[in-house]
Amino acid sequence: MDQVAQVREKTDLVSFISEYVPLKKTGRNFKAPCPFHTEKTPSFVVSPERQIWHCFGCQKGGDCFTFLMEYENLEFPEALRILAKKVGVELSQTPFQSGVSSKKEKIYILNRQAMEFYHYVLTKHAAGKKALEYLSKDRHINPKVLETFMVGFAPANGNALASYLLTKKKHVKEDLIEAGLSFNKTGRIVDFFVNRIIFPLLDHRGNVEGFSGRVMDPKLQPKYVNTRETLVYHKGKVFFGLNMAKDEIKKEERAIIMEGEFDVMSSFQEGVGNAVAVKGTALTEAQVNLIARFCPKVSLCFDTDSAGQEAIVRSLLAIEKKGLLCSVVVCPNAKDPDEAVQKDSFAFKQAVKHSIPVYDFLLEKVLSEVSVKSAEGKKRASDDLLPIFNNIENEVVKEHYLKKLAQEIDTTYESVVKQTQHFAKQAKEDVFIKRAKDARSRKEIIEEYLLSLLLQYKIPQQIVEKIQKDNILFSFSVPSYQKIAEHFFSYTKAHSTIDMQVFLKGLPSELFDSFDRCYLLPLPLFIDDKAHLEEILKIEKELYLVSLRENLKKISDQLKKNEKEETEEFLALQQEFSRLTSLLSDAQK
Ligand code: CTP
Ligand code: MN
Repeated sequence: MDQVAQVREKTDLVSFISEYVPLKKTGRNFKAPCPFHTEKTPSFVVSPERQIWHCFGCQKGGDCFTFLMEYENLEFPEALRILAKKVGVELSQTPFQSGVSSKKEKIYILNRQAMEFYHYVLTKHAAGKKALEYLSKDRHINPKVLETFMVGFAPANGNALASYLLTKKKHVKEDLIEAGLSFNKTGRIVDFFVNRIIFPLLDHRGNVEGFSGRVMDPKLQPKYVNTRETLVYHKGKVFFGLNMAKDEIKKEERAIIMEGEFDVMSSFQEGVGNAVAVKGTALTEAQVNLIARFCPKVSLCFDTDSAGQEAIVRSLLAIEKKGLLCSVVVCPNAKDPDEAVQKDSFAFKQAVKHSIPVYDFLLEKVLSEVSVKSAEGKKRASDDLLPIFNNIENEVVKEHYLKKLAQEIDTTYESVVKQTQHFAKQAKEDVFIKRAKDARSRKEIIEEYLLSLLLQYKIPQQIVEKIQKDNILFSFSVPSYQKIAEHFFSYTKAHSTIDMQVFLKGLPSELFDSFDRCYLLPLPLFIDDKAHLEEILKIEKELYLVSLRENLKKISDQLKKNEKEETEEFLALQQEFSRLTSLLSDAQK
């Protein structure tokens, strides 16, 4: 057995994935909300018997390696190394490197050296003196915090980093360019960041993904620039400070989300260690999914200007969708957290401690802006708030705020509820609706569902008995489904209990993909086996009706095309038509 297979064999997928995702047992499989996309109904399924996972919402799936690669954004060799270590398999040689992987690793190495270079320039070199002064005197950031966040400085001379990396570290130009650290300017290599304070952007595992640079010369624009998109840096997917804050976030079970680097560093300096920055304004879905791995609660602590306040509303949808609790930290008398800390750190810490549930915050804010005595004021308050309250996932919480709003604007709860119905209901995130949108015919979708019902039924022997007794013909038009069903029935007839491992040994490997899909497809929750069995019979009948109707349509089309009546062929078609019609009417009885 090769080492990859050995590691896979030794990894128990269910307990491994449980370390990341709260799995719930449902029938033969385990289910959870997918960690790779935002959803309400769990469509992420793990099969202990097959040792595979699949998400029926985003269609991602695979084994322990692909899970880890997806989850931690790793390349295969790295995932293999981690899992091998976990299960105690010694890898004989350095595992093969894929092209992309080695490129990514090279960028991480370059970025780390660049981070150290910039930090050295800021803290030890004459070229960084002014920046260091600015940071300590004007911004009150102490040396320890500068070191924790590895803040640096990019010299004003245009290629200091490039010449360091090329001559001292013996890298090649192409790699510097690929990392986004430098670029080609009419044949000369030039640094991307010049005369700027540098903030390294680390992922939660400590890899240096990129940088942001703040101007020193206030005449220069823009104030901040970030590394361009590279193989490892993707805007909207990182938080500044997450690597430093993650332990505190886990401990506190809460992350405080701010806008900028200085907000996070100033807070950190004052002992608020669970803050991260989105760098810019609204939180992206990717960022919400990332932070949700570390804590169940977030507090938004954005700038107090209108952009920051709008960002609260824009971030809320993704937060609510992910099921995170959300509150708002209101900075006392300041434009942003950084200023609040500098002005009165005690008051700031109090504000952090006493964050306000986001919906209360929004309600109070709107009520302070309009006069609820007038009809117009009532309209504005409800226009602003109802679309937001209407998206609250938890019905009890939703009712709480709708009632509160009704009370505040002195109207009835009924009117408020009626008004919410004007907002288009968000399309229900239902796997079946989603799948109905795919290119397959209705019949194929029903067949997939029926086969899934069969394969996931606890006591298959019962079905076989029922089939034999009632003489039911399960027939599938999708060839792989038909073959799987035939194997399944002959297996159940020959064995008193079903052992999936044994059954699978007899199944041709080209059927595995279809089998796995049906074996993992999320099914509705049945109260008991009887209800499950009834669903099988109901769907089987539905499929039968759909097939009959399809055949009838085919024949009637042929009959229409056939001009010469009285031919043998025509008569045969007519006979078949009436046979099917009577079958159909029998079936519908
Ligand atoms: N930002 C950015 N690009 C810009 C402006 C801002 O990426 N052109 C990000 C930075 O991470 C910045 C954050 O958005 O820290 C908030 O912007 P802003 O409020 O304008 O900056 P401050 O944090 O107040 O900046 P500073 O304290 O450095 O003056
Ligand atoms: Mn700001």
